[in-house]
Amino acid sequence: MLVLGVETSCDETGLALVRDGRLVVERLASQTDMHAVFGGVVPEIASREHQRMLPPLFAQLLTAGGVAASDIDAVAVARGPGLLGSLLVGLSFAKGVCLATGAELIGVNHLHAHLLAAGLEGEMRFPALGVLVSGGHTHLYRIDSPTEFGLLGRTLDDAAGEAFDKVAKLLNLPYPGGRYLDELSQGVEPDPAMFPLAYVHNDNLDFSFSGLKTAVAEYLNKHPQLAYAAMPDAATLKREGALALCSHPEELALVAASFNHAVAETLRIKAARALDRERGLVSLVVAGGVAANSHVRAALGGLAAERGLAYSLPSLALCTDNAAMVARTGFLALSAGYRHGLDLESVPRGRAVPLDWARVTQQ
Ligand code: KG4
Ligand code: ZN
Repeated sequence: MLVLGVETSCDETGLALVRDGRLVVERLASQTDMHAVFGGVVPEIASREHQRMLPPLFAQLLTAGGVAASDIDAVAVARGPGLLGSLLVGLSFAKGVCLATGAELIGVNHLHAHLLAAGLEGEMRFPALGVLVSGGHTHLYRIDSPTEFGLLGRTLDDAAGEAFDKVAKLLNLPYPGGRYLDELSQGVEPDPAMFPLAYVHNDNLDFSFSGLKTAVAEYLNKHPQLAYAAMPDAATLKREGALALCSHPEELALVAASFNHAVAETLRIKAARALDRERGLVSLVVAGGVAANSHVRAALGGLAAERGLAYSLPSLALCTDNAAMVARTGFLALSAGYRHGLDLESVPRGRAVPLDWARVTQQ
């Protein structure tokens, strides 16, 4: 079965072809540089870029994959959560391909796709505890199968990635700045007393990162010399390195290491609590943009090893938004018999993605 994946939920335009669950080819057009100067994603720019990029990317994808549009059996599209305008562009494109070729349509929950991304690189085992850490979400799930997700805990305010990006913004780093904080912290021993662990002294599985963000903001207010005097652009940061461009490298590296430690440790504590409570889990799955963070990868990897669980972690390229994960998630749902009609709706951020698919029973 050849499945086309379409990803346009935020600021990456992605298309991918997956045959029987394995990646054939993918194309990604990132808009990050366009939004960087605004300190966040500008929804109207994002929608227009998706609109502009989808047709040429599709043509490139078919050529690179050596297939014709008529070879596509099904289209899997990220239907939410995300930016409504951006999602609508992807959904319209997906429906257009279905109308033109007769392919089946399946809508994919973008968050579930992140959690199933590691399946493109190796076998995933269920039931699993899923830790989804992205720019918009920090969710804990019990995953019984690729089509059965139960939400155990969520952030009450900022997502982990949002906390990273807001701290980076206070330092005058371009958006999204999470990766620069990770980079600045490399090889530095954190000071665990510098910042509080966020919202762990309770008995629930929810997260709250706004207190940590405020603690870092207060620290930076008292130490204004740590911020970059002028915002460096992404290309310069890539070339020179974030540490080389700042004025107080030792102090800034310690702040970055301590902040990274506080986020990773909070995630580890809540994930451990979920593992204590849920029965029969055989693996730990970590996904989303913040799963690229070296501290988070290490802390949750340590937890999996301690509990004797399989550890599923996508490679760095598969952690951030991409269409391969959408195509694979769609393939798994289609294989389980699920389909959507052309009346499939997009779901903006803040609304739960409904389980409104139809089950086709095999004759
Ligand atoms: O999953 P994603 O690509 O987009 C959303 O769906 O949100 O996640 C993007 C988030 C941003 O907040 C970005 O700063 C963060 O992932 N991120 C990181 C790292 N790489 C990306 N945060 C911390 N450390 C990193 N290495
Ligand atoms: Zn995402």
